[in-house]
Amino acid sequence: MQIIVRPGADLRGEVSVPGDKSIAHRWLILAATARGRSYLRGLPPALDVISTASSLAAVSGRARPALEVWASKAGATVEGAGSTWNEHGLAEVSDLLEVEGEGRSGLRSSTADLDCGNSGTSMRLLAGILAAAPFRSVLTGDPSLRTRPMERVAAPLRSMGATVRTDDGHAPLFIEGGALRGVRYVMPVASAQVKGAVLFAGLAAEGTTTVVEPAPVRDHTERALEALGAPILREDGVSVQAFQHDGFQGAVPGDPSSAAFLVAAAAITGSSVGIIGVGLNPTRLRFLDVMRRMGVQTEVTVEREELGEPVGSIRVQGGTDILPVRVEPQEVALVIDEIPVLAAMAIHARGDSWFLHAGELRVKESDRLFGLAAGIRAMGGEAAEEGDDLVIAGGGLTGGEATSGGDHRMAMAFAVAALGATGEVTIGGAEAADVSFPGFTQTMQAAGAPMELEP
Ligand code: S3P
Repeated sequence: MQIIVRPGADLRGEVSVPGDKSIAHRWLILAATARGRSYLRGLPPALDVISTASSLAAVSGRARPALEVWASKAGATVEGAGSTWNEHGLAEVSDLLEVEGEGRSGLRSSTADLDCGNSGTSMRLLAGILAAAPFRSVLTGDPSLRTRPMERVAAPLRSMGATVRTDDGHAPLFIEGGALRGVRYVMPVASAQVKGAVLFAGLAAEGTTTVVEPAPVRDHTERALEALGAPILREDGVSVQAFQHDGFQGAVPGDPSSAAFLVAAAAITGSSVGIIGVGLNPTRLRFLDVMRRMGVQTEVTVEREELGEPVGSIRVQGGTDILPVRVEPQEVALVIDEIPVLAAMAIHARGDSWFLHAGELRVKESDRLFGLAAGIRAMGGEAAEEGDDLVIAGGGLTGGEATSGGDHRMAMAFAVAALGATGEVTIGGAEAADVSFPGFTQTMQAAGAPMELEP
């Protein structure tokens, strides 16, 4: 599939974005390991989330049928088989998932390997839960996932007492779970996935488990656990002690990382849009600070809370010049998923923008530093990698052809950047957007972007 983007966008109105992938993974895991029934709404039919649901189904008892049905319906939606789109451009899937959990001790071994597809979050978070399950599990994934670093999660789980083997640091991950003991783990890399895995394991460990972050990262795991009554302490890191939670209910807020594409699109085209029902967790909104430094004015309104997560709207009023920006090393972890879209904006600034010490981008779904520099040049702009820094010369795009390299955020970032080009842009590998934002093109079209998806 490819996305064709033509110049001349004028975005208007209010849009919703699919549910937050990071939150959905965590709530699904918590629902499958709760004691009793949970009611989840707003799970996104995103391929990564489907990977978590189907892997959990394989190790669940009573929760299995519901998880399997949700995963297959959601999967059919992203493949476009009879899916429909509501007025906000969102795919309609049955919105309520009821999961009957039997507690963590209700998990059972799977004869098949657990396939995490393209999703590093599924693999790393599930490793944390399975480290305490007294059986053998094998976690695997697609070729991209099998190249990504897994020692970062295997090492702390081993130190807690689980047997975890990797294939030279990569998936497949072989886990022999068992009795765990609490540890104090100082993460060498700032990773919310690793923090989440260690905290999940800590729920079943003897004593206290503490995770110390070298730089702040998203805090969805501890927010959900706190809301469920777990003994979470935030002081010199995040600590947890043994705890078994009960069933719960929650509606997953819209994904702010997906909303970022709409905010950037409005800024680039000088339009105004509102994104409603979106997650407003402060650890996910650093991209708005960076955009503010680029001259973009946004208004954030918190309206309610869902399982410890603030939810509301983001409104953006475009029309001012985009300023060049420097993203500093210590803030990279807080904009890790938004660097591609911030780079898309930087292309349209007057002057050079710098993304410093962004080496973590090389071990995402693709090498995003390389892909961004190459893609920007392919669309008629100027950008270069300098070690692990990315420099983007402002001045806009003339048009051309770029490829996603199979990476969802690259496909969407290029499509958004292309809205400000003087000529037509074609983006190959556009189907990758379904990994986190099913219906991306339809949502952009509904907001007024001249984008088309072609086979
Ligand atoms: C995520 C954490 C981040 C992020 C990913 C989702 C999470 O990864 O890039 O998209 O849900 O915990 P790292 O923990 O590897 O930085």
